[in-house]
Amino acid sequence: MQGRGYGSAALDRVLDYIRTKPFGTSDRVALTCNKENPVARKLYENKGFQATGVEDEDEIELALTIF
Ligand SMILES: CC(C)(COP(=O)(O)OP(=O)(O)OC[C@H]1O[C@@H](n2cnc3c(N)ncnc32)[C@H](O)[C@@H]1OP(=O)(O)O)[C@@H](O)C(=O)NCCC(=O)NCCS
Repeated sequence: MQGRGYGSAALDRVLDYIRTKPFGTSDRVALTCNKENPVARKLYENKGFQATGVEDEDEIELALTIF
């Protein structure tokens, strides 16, 4: 079922929910992505997430400022 737009649509729904500020007033959304997962990383970057420079041996952190 991959590659049919479901991951992109699901992430849009998640970000719409976060924009309602259910967890407080922060505008910052952060996640981590495995370094060897270019498909997921591209999906996040297409939504505006950018690498923060924080990483460990397996994962990088990406963050997005929501409006
Ligand atoms: C990452 C994941 C959630 C993406 O979901 P999806 O429904 O396959 O993704 P979509 O169909 O919405 O496509 C999102 C983007 O990835 C690209 N893509 C999807 N599958 C791809 C593949 N096999 N190879 C290259 N690009 C691919 C699409 O072209 C699309 O890019 P675009 O917006 O530039 O067209 C899904 O592949 C998945 O569940 N992977 C396994 C678990 C995982 O990696 N989770 C993320 C952990 S950080």
